[in-house]
Amino acid sequence: MQRNPQALAVYIHYPYCIQKCRYCDFYSVAGENSKGTLSAYLKALKAEFAVRKRDFSSFSRIETIFFGGGTASRLPLEALKEILSLLEESFAFLPEMEITLEGNPEDLTQSYLSGLVDLGIRRVNAGIQTFDRKILEQLGRYFDPHRYEAILETLRSFPLRRGVDLIYGFPESEEIFQSDLARVLQANLEHLSLYALTVEKGTELSRLGPYPDEDLQARLFDSLPAHLAREGYVHYEVSNYARPGFESRHNLRYWMYEPYMGLGPGAHGFTGRLRYGNPRNVDRYLVGHVMGALSPHQPAVDIWLGLLRLVRFPLAMVFEILDEADLPHEPFLGELDQLLEEGVASLDDGVFCWKARGLLFLDQYVERMISAYSFMNNPVKTGSR
Ligand SMILES: C[S@@+](CC[C@H](N)C(=O)[O-])C[C@H]1O[C@@H](n2cnc3c(N)ncnc32)[C@H](O)[C@@H]1O
Ligand code: SF4
Repeated sequence: MQRNPQALAVYIHYPYCIQKCRYCDFYSVAGENSKGTLSAYLKALKAEFAVRKRDFSSFSRIETIFFGGGTASRLPLEALKEILSLLEESFAFLPEMEITLEGNPEDLTQSYLSGLVDLGIRRVNAGIQTFDRKILEQLGRYFDPHRYEAILETLRSFPLRRGVDLIYGFPESEEIFQSDLARVLQANLEHLSLYALTVEKGTELSRLGPYPDEDLQARLFDSLPAHLAREGYVHYEVSNYARPGFESRHNLRYWMYEPYMGLGPGAHGFTGRLRYGNPRNVDRYLVGHVMGALSPHQPAVDIWLGLLRLVRFPLAMVFEILDEADLPHEPFLGELDQLLEEGVASLDDGVFCWKARGLLFLDQYVERMISAYSFMNNPVKTGSR
């Protein structure tokens, strides 16, 4: 687990979805993207990039690129090619770089995947959520049953790093989840994201349900690491599992306090000192490059919100990050002693490792660590635009 803060990650947000799912709080808008919108989107993205690259002028190389959404797989291959060329005009691509596209089963057809491989996009993540039609309907998720049936087989026929997302914890759904999981395990994928259904404020789900079964979620969360370890997967982040060496390098960068440039409506970025968040409004984005301003942030909060999500991490890395942010080690070391004493974490040859109970009540331990640094929580003050 190596940091590379000298290189950059780039996140491209494509906000369009065929239909808005009832549980989703990510910035996404329903409605098919017309040709006109696509060209306006590409134009706005280029305008944003022209400005953003100045904020990241100390970087010369890109380590990872992630096309996310919304539904990034609604982006035609030609558009993806145009965006990659745009990035490559300004930054060197590292030979071992990771380029990911996150998509929905409906779009991940043989011809689309083959085009992705040709473009050098060799990591694909499919949002399945569940194969159960009744639940997909309850979730208000658009789905094509034929594509859902075929998706695992289709992914298998390409030289890709393949991952899928599943959601668990719907009422009375334990068997359904076990069958979804068995099905993806059979496909022998490199990466699995297993999310407990969360009720996000303002979503249709929050108003009308069905609400998650929290006991079932806790039971599954507890049993998954051992179950997946038997299948050869390492639990490396709260909701993420991978074959060794196939972790999402791009997402690790967020959790390990490494810089990233976010482009598109609703995208976030971090220069290494300053952060920004673009407004969640695609209409305004399309008519002029409406961008979030760089602003000071609170490293003593941000570091812990990311780092403590990792199931294990070397202490040497914590010290490196704290030094980078000019934060003292002592509050961390004090909290560490406390966590070890309470038996919710362990230390193995200089590597911090959460135990199951630590991860289950993670929010409270993150809060504690942030409080230990509360005396430091003055935002970093360096020039903002
Ligand atoms: C923002 S979505 C984008 C990917 C793609 N559009 C899709 O739906 O698969 C990324 C992932 O977040 C997860 N997700 C979104 N909202 C969630 C929620 N309320 N609870 C749990 N997982 C959620 C889903 O598993 C989804 O695949
Ligand atoms: S879960 Fe995916 S498809 Fe559904 S609204 Fe959110 S981003 Fe769009």
